Parts: sequence; C-alpha cells; structure tokens
Amino acid sequence: MIGTLRTTRQIRQYAAEPVPDGVLRQILQVARWTGSSTNRQEWHFIVVRDRDTIVKLSRLRTPISWIAGAPLGIAIVVDEDDASHAYDEGRATERILVAAHALGYGGGIAWYGDASQQAEVKKLLGIPADKTARQIVMIGRPVSPTDPRPGARPGGRKPLAEIVSYDRYSK
Ligand SMILES: Cc1cc2nc3c(=O)[nH]c(=O)nc-3n(C[C@H](O)[C@H](O)[C@H](O)COP(=O)(O)O)c2cc1C
Repeated sequence: MIGTLRTTRQIRQYAAEPVPDGVLRQILQVARWTGSSTNRQEWHFIVVRDRDTIVKLSRLRTPISWIAGAPLGIAIVVDEDDASHAYDEGRATERILVAAHALGYGGGIAWYGDASQQAEVKKLLGIPADKTARQIVMIGRPVSPTDPRPGARPGGRKPLAEIVSYDRYSK
C-alpha cells in the first residue's frame, strides 16, 4: 500500500490497449468513495473514450497534446469554482491516479487552460456553462513515467529536510 502511494506518477505515455470495463469501474468506485467537504459529493465524472473527442481535447494547448495517446480519460466536473470544491476535486483526482497505479495502469492530469479553453471543453462534453470543468485525468497502461514534452522540467522531489519542520515553522 505504502509502496503504491509512493510510486504513483504522472503518466503521459500509454500503450495502445484499451482499459477493461472492470478496471474502469474499480477506479470510478474509488473516486466515488473520496471524502468531500460536508460529504456533499458535488462532482460528476465523465468517462471520455471517444477518439475524436480525446484528439480535440489534446489540441486545446500544447502541454496536454500527449493525451491523444491515452485510451480514455475521466473528466471531473464540480459545482462551484471555489477553494473547497477545488480541494474535493484534488482529493478525487489523486485517488484516481493511485487506484489506476494499484491496478497496473497509470493516470495523468491534464488541465484545459484558461476560461475560453474551459468553455470550449464544456461545449465539447456537453457540460452546463455554470459548472466548473478544469481537467481530465487520462488512464491507460503505462509505457514510461518519463515526461516526453520538449523542455520538460526535471522530476524527483525536494528532500524532506527542505520541506518539513517540527513544532514550529523554520526554513
Ligand atoms: C494541479 C495540477 C495540474 C497539472 N496539470 C498538468 C497538465 O496540464 N499537463 C501535464 O502534463 N501535467 C500536469 N500536471 C502533472 C504534474 O506536472 C506532475 O504531477 C508533476 O510533474 C510530478 O510528476 P511525477 O509524479 O511523475 O514526478 C498537473 C498536476 C497538478 C497537481
């Protein structure tokens, strides 16, 4: 369990094979059981498998062009654009990534971009204009955790000594 959490990565390179329905369902069940503020569960998950739609989404902006290679994505829609809904959305997102990894698959977050790009996505996916739609989480069999984008930032993480203090903030 700890190992699965520790090794969950952002996957941007996927094999061509589809995600079986049983795997998808397990990932969606994990997302459904995510805790949310006051248990309001004000989210909606759109499973996007249509190739043409995924390709259109991949063209929204260059940093997410890799999504064209994923067999499916789960677009997350929340009711309001505020901090606590964003927090709920982040929790569900992370659980989707971890669940996919635990099942031998991999997930990758793709943010749509600015307000006009989000509006485009809403039209494409039939999402009501008053909802908040920021991102889609792609799922597939991972080929590599390497970021294939030109100019990709280095991976890895800051050491604990740099990000943790005890009893009082110190840096
Ligand atoms: C809020 C948020 C938005 C992100 N948006 C994108 C994105 O639009 N495109 C992308 O390729 N990765 C995106 N990522 C993934 C991050 O780049 C990734 O988590 C980070 O590079 C660490 O990757 P690693 O766990 O594989 O080391 C996003 C991550 C977060 C938390």
